[in-house]
Amino acid sequence: MKKTILSGSTVTGDLTLGNYIGAINNWTQLQDDYDCLYFLADLHALTVQQDPKLLKERTYSFLAQYVALGLDPQKNIIFAQSHVHQHAELMWILSCLTPMGNLNRMTQFKEKSEKHTKNINAGLFTYPTLMAADILLYQADKVPVGEDQKQHIELCRDLVTYFSNRYGEGILKMPEPFIAKTGARIMSLQDPTKKMSKSDENEKNFVSVIDDAKKIEKKIKSATTDSDIVVKYDLENKPGLANLLTIYSVLSKKSYETLEKEYEGKMYGHLKGDLANLVVETLAPVKIKYDDLMKNRDYLDQVLKQGADKASQRAQVTLGKVYDAVGLVRRP
Ligand code: AMP
Ligand code: TRP
Repeated sequence: MKKTILSGSTVTGDLTLGNYIGAINNWTQLQDDYDCLYFLADLHALTVQQDPKLLKERTYSFLAQYVALGLDPQKNIIFAQSHVHQHAELMWILSCLTPMGNLNRMTQFKEKSEKHTKNINAGLFTYPTLMAADILLYQADKVPVGEDQKQHIELCRDLVTYFSNRYGEGILKMPEPFIAKTGARIMSLQDPTKKMSKSDENEKNFVSVIDDAKKIEKKIKSATTDSDIVVKYDLENKPGLANLLTIYSVLSKKSYETLEKEYEGKMYGHLKGDLANLVVETLAPVKIKYDDLMKNRDYLDQVLKQGADKASQRAQVTLGKVYDAVGLVRRP
């Protein structure tokens, strides 16, 4: 029996180099050896105000980005969260087990409520409980995410413990985070103390996976570094350069040491130029595939349908067990 992997991304903005390196690049490497489910977190997107038309468009765009980045719909179950109603239903059950105190500790909630001061809604607060439902419905063993999601997975693990203590062991499986050693936290290009985020208002802070070559080049070349001249991985004193080296290392599969040697006696500008070329090379085929997929709505709908059918079946098995365990009467 293959182990089950589940992950997703919130449907806002466009996927960034951070999403690719921290998450999707790892998803594509798992697709041959695991039973994988990857979804479009459209319900999660509603925690901040969305333009309904744009959200619809983005859901297709994200699906096309997933596939263009290498997720094969034949090898993975790819689906939209809102197409499987069991997510919202399991969330309710879990909400009744989630202590407010645990949610209060979530750094993403704190950050987002500072950013959206006029829209601090209950969904933003209970978002990690929905995320736990996403994971637990499919009895996932591992959840490949970037560093920023670790705390949410810890909450999910707490919820499994609370649930099992109250209703019995073995109904919900205890998941584990799966976080890569390198690249789990790609930083903003202009401010390397912040993570690269797809909802950043300043476009210069991130490279989107569907940016064109010119944009990519400009953004990488204008990334903040420091006034020193030695190419060395030093996270504390040279965070901007360290971030570029991390991107470089993951995309080229070369270690920091190898890169440091290659750039001995060379300037930062030289490294930035080479890195820009490498990113362009990596993403150019993605953009071509993406543009192609976006012209083929029927195909995208077919992927969504197939994914939703498969995911629903599996989700219902878990939800049925949970409803039984908590004492809800089966519909006669
Ligand atoms: P999000 O953009 O929050 O929907 O995240 C989707 C996935 O990408 C999650 O697994 C995140 O942990 C991961 N991710 C987001 N931003 C970054 C980043 N800057 N570096 C590494 N991973 C990231
Ligand atoms: N919260 C995640 C993010 O913003 C996306 C997400 C929602 C997710 N549900 C999930 C990731 C379940 C992994 C598993 O990055």
